[in-house]
Amino acid sequence: MEEKLRRINLHKKPNHIAVIMDGNGRWAKGKGMQRVFGHRNALTAIRETADTASELDIEYVTLYAFSTENWNRPKLEVDALMSLLVSTLKKELPEFMRKNVRVNAIGDLNSLPANAQRVLAHVIDQTKDNSKITLTFALSYGAREEIVNAIKNISKKVVNNEIDIEKINEKIINTHLYTFNLPDVDLMIRTSGEQRISNFLLWQMAYAELYFTEVLWPDFRREDLLDAILDYQNRERRFGKTSEQIEETNE
Ligand code: IPE
Ligand code: IPE
Ligand code: MG
Repeated sequence: MEEKLRRINLHKKPNHIAVIMDGNGRWAKGKGMQRVFGHRNALTAIRETADTASELDIEYVTLYAFSTENWNRPKLEVDALMSLLVSTLKKELPEFMRKNVRVNAIGDLNSLPANAQRVLAHVIDQTKDNSKITLTFALSYGAREEIVNAIKNISKKVVNNEIDIEKINEKIINTHLYTFNLPDVDLMIRTSGEQRISNFLLWQMAYAELYFTEVLWPDFRREDLLDAILDYQNRERRFGKTSEQIEETNE
């Protein structure tokens, strides 16, 4: 077994990894190519991330593929990203089936082009009984938009007397987020050296460990994911408690 894999403590692995796949444009530019070339070369990184997580029995991987703010990019790039989404989903469906991957999506999906919505719905439906790993694509996703959407839906239920205001709690909010069927994020990885959250999973990352790497997304490989998990395992997640308390419960 390879060295890094051997060092991973299978009892201390993250259950949900979220990734901000950043740096495609710079990767392409560095090769003297157009930004879209970087997006086209992102698939290997996506595959290796999902495959490696699956191999380690990490159940949830969530990938930030397109933000609500990304709609402000040049039309040419937005169009290219949307058609890449459609072609990639079509191409990968047989692989998702073979690898027992359940595909899920979060975000303001109604704002995606009609054909993208159609293909996405088809892939989600075809893979719904797969159970090895849940691979969630964040598409037209913004955490603030998600929270606004949740507040609207909860408010409607309050008005219809389906929810009592006094009963609103974290659990109810959780069930109205796009991530209602996902656990909290344990480890958030961002590539390309940027150290910010960019409106990703604000609520769900309240206690996530954050890991930043200089590697540009199209270069991200299995080894890089293993590095991130090894780093995560060296951290002490205290959730507000003291180090001594954590050691006691570990004993
Ligand atoms: C991430 O790469 C992909 C998307 C946001 C869709 P970028 O396109 O942001 O690449 P950089 O950050 O400009 O290098
Ligand atoms: C965040 O990357 C969104 C995705 C990776 C899809 P951006 O490259 O859009 O983020 P900012 O705007 O530089 O923070
Ligand atoms: Mg970027």
